[in-house]
Amino acid sequence: MYILGIETSCDETGVAIYHSTKGLVSHHLYSQISMHSEYGGVVPELASRDHIRKLIPLVKQTLSDSNLNNTDIQGIAYTAGPGLMGALLVGATTARSLAWAWQVPAIAVHHMEGHLLAPMLEENPPKFPFVALLVSGGHTLLIQVDGIGQYTQLGESLDDAAGEAFDKTAKMLDLGYPGGPKVSQLAEKGTDRFVFPRPMTDRPGLDFSFSGLKTFTMNTYNSTNKSKQDKADIAYAFQKATSETLAIKCRRALQQTGLKTLVIAGGVSANTQIRAELLKMTEKENATLFFPRLEFCTDNGAMIAYAGCQRLLAGQEENLEIYAKPRWPIEELMAL
Ligand code: KG4
Ligand code: ZN
Repeated sequence: MYILGIETSCDETGVAIYHSTKGLVSHHLYSQISMHSEYGGVVPELASRDHIRKLIPLVKQTLSDSNLNNTDIQGIAYTAGPGLMGALLVGATTARSLAWAWQVPAIAVHHMEGHLLAPMLEENPPKFPFVALLVSGGHTLLIQVDGIGQYTQLGESLDDAAGEAFDKTAKMLDLGYPGGPKVSQLAEKGTDRFVFPRPMTDRPGLDFSFSGLKTFTMNTYNSTNKSKQDKADIAYAFQKATSETLAIKCRRALQQTGLKTLVIAGGVSANTQIRAELLKMTEKENATLFFPRLEFCTDNGAMIAYAGCQRLLAGQEENLEIYAKPRWPIEELMAL
């Protein structure tokens, strides 16, 4: 069964075709980064308009690269939320209209479930049950995953998401957008000069908070001469504090659940220092760490096609209604 996947929740138009037994057939991504960077962040209206321009050509390109045509497609999966309302609606209306025209089912996919299942696209996928750390621009979630749709939230960020903290730190240091990769690059030139707090690690629990760390970063930056080296040292300290905080909470989650498998996914899981810190922790805990390949850490159509395919295979059905859910708790999903 060939499934077309469509992702338009934020600033990336992603399209992929996944086959239920052959795996990923092809995928394409158009990133809007250069368009938004002029404004220092995502401009929602520009994002929606660009998805409109790029989505259909990307669908055509993905079909032709796969040597398939529309009659081969047996289902369409699209991101229905969470995300930017206008951007989501472009994907939802396109997916549902194509599905109606092609007489195939369409299925609404939860963006974070897409991220969560992205490591399943790799050669050596994790087995259920596992603990998942989902770290993106809008979410920081620790989840116990017992199967597809069987999600128990263990912790979340009470304020800024991890990716948001990277983006705000980058803005503060004048590094541009998106912040994560820029902070990470600059941190390579930094030295171990400042000690930043590891928020909420001195008390029990699995929730996160990054807004205090952001204030601490700003105060430290303002106390320096704001030289290139000052910036690099601050990026280093921020990244170290963030990765150690994430590792402390993930260790707690593994100990609390008794599970020995940790999955990390979402844009921030592309961060090399965070991966290294989590790898060090899981080795000590006799646990195994899984993550998607770099291009599937950030938004993409492949993870949406995969998640939708599993739900369609399980017989999930939806009516023809076109809807998008900018806010959508992951625990509301139906278990397979
Ligand atoms: O998953 P994603 O592509 O989109 C959302 O669902 O939000 O994540 C984007 C976030 C941004 O905040 C970006 O700065 C962050 O992921 N990010 C990174 C890195 N690459 C992307 N953060 C830290 N280090 C990176 N290498
Ligand atoms: Zn995402």
